[in-house]
Amino acid sequence: MAEAYIVGAVRTPVGTKKGALKDVHPADLGAHVLKELVNRTGVDPSAVEDVIMGCVMQAGPQALDIARTAWLSAGLPESVPGVTIDRQCGSSQQAIHFAAQGVLSGTQDLVIASGVEHMAKVPMGATIVQGLDFPYGEGWGERYGQQEISQFRGAELMAEKWGFTREDLEKFALESHRRAAKAIEAGYFDREIAPLAGLTKDEGARPDTTLEKMAGLKTLREGGVITAAVSSQISIGSSALLIASEEAVKQHNLTPRARIHTLALTGSDPVYMLTGPIPATEKALAKSGLKIDDIDVFEVNEAFAPVPMAWAHDTGASLEKTNPNGGAIATGHPLGATGGILMTKLLHELERTGGRYGLQTMCEGGGQANATIIERL
Ligand SMILES: CC(C)(COP(=O)(O)OP(=O)(O)OC[C@H]1O[C@@H](n2cnc3c(N)ncnc32)[C@H](O)[C@@H]1OP(=O)(O)O)[C@@H](O)C(=O)NCCC(=O)NCCS
Repeated sequence: MAEAYIVGAVRTPVGTKKGALKDVHPADLGAHVLKELVNRTGVDPSAVEDVIMGCVMQAGPQALDIARTAWLSAGLPESVPGVTIDRQCGSSQQAIHFAAQGVLSGTQDLVIASGVEHMAKVPMGATIVQGLDFPYGEGWGERYGQQEISQFRGAELMAEKWGFTREDLEKFALESHRRAAKAIEAGYFDREIAPLAGLTKDEGARPDTTLEKMAGLKTLREGGVITAAVSSQISIGSSALLIASEEAVKQHNLTPRARIHTLALTGSDPVYMLTGPIPATEKALAKSGLKIDDIDVFEVNEAFAPVPMAWAHDTGASLEKTNPNGGAIATGHPLGATGGILMTKLLHELERTGGRYGLQTMCEGGGQANATIIERL
């Protein structure tokens, strides 16, 4: 049976919207991790068969197939192509799936899965061009009506359905900050981060936040429970992983660090939008033959606090093992880059703690989710 191995994983520190990375061009942001990945793994870059890059807002400086422009901006060989993909917030997790599938199918031996997003230069919604047809047409209208479709509404709907109070969400957010602050202080992320523009650590962490401070913030909508404190932040970052076949490992003298164990994908209610990680996790576990308690570390994207909370409630996963070093509420969520960032964190945390199995899952626009199980080697 063919195997796909992760032989390298690197990310930038995650920057805030007005912070150290604000002036870095997105193509240079992507180029930085691609160059670092090549240097750190020692792979011959001309042997890479494709560069798959997740990016959600493919407009302005993120337009024109940024996978290609980032690779060329990094000074890497023109003979290696690149493709940019959009599965919304899970785009670079999907890049990992596509890369692994290329290798598992035997059609490719070395593929880079990466992601980039500069949410300050290309804000959310930038690709919804005013004056052109809105993304939802007649067929959508017949099926879902004219109701609001947004992640903010989805987060409120989830909090209501699972019965989470604002205080429940804020307690979760506080714990995310506490874990992130501890991990940053202890240097847990140092091995996986490629410093950029003088930034060496994730910039969004608020080690001094408190429940009292959070309770004083305005909710995003009247009568709601979602505030900035229980939402992922607007961020800037990039990530890259090298996926290799058994053959490539031997030929290029690479070190397999984890094996791709299981890949799963699901669709879910697009109005709730953010519940997909629950069925995706169930599907991944069923395919893998593993039980929830066999997993040592979970990375579940903290798009909004109700997402990992509802996920833990329904799957029975331990929150102790989930986002052990904090998540996007504390350190940010640069959309297209986050899938690769979470996988990079997952791999390094398994290595740090000696864990065997890791599971990553993320909610995605349109009501979808990827789930990936890896086995550390
Ligand atoms: C929620 C959101 C709209 C808030 O945007 P914003 O108002 O620009 O956010 P800020 O970071 O400036 O925070 C707003 C205020 O809350 C404060 N705040 C945020 N988190 C806090 C915390 N944990 N403790 C104390 N204060 C906090 C900030 O200091 C800021 O206060 P100020 O206005 O006095 O400076 C934005 O972060 C967002 O859109 N997040 C979701 C992104 C998303 O949808 N991603 C895709 C997922 S599906």
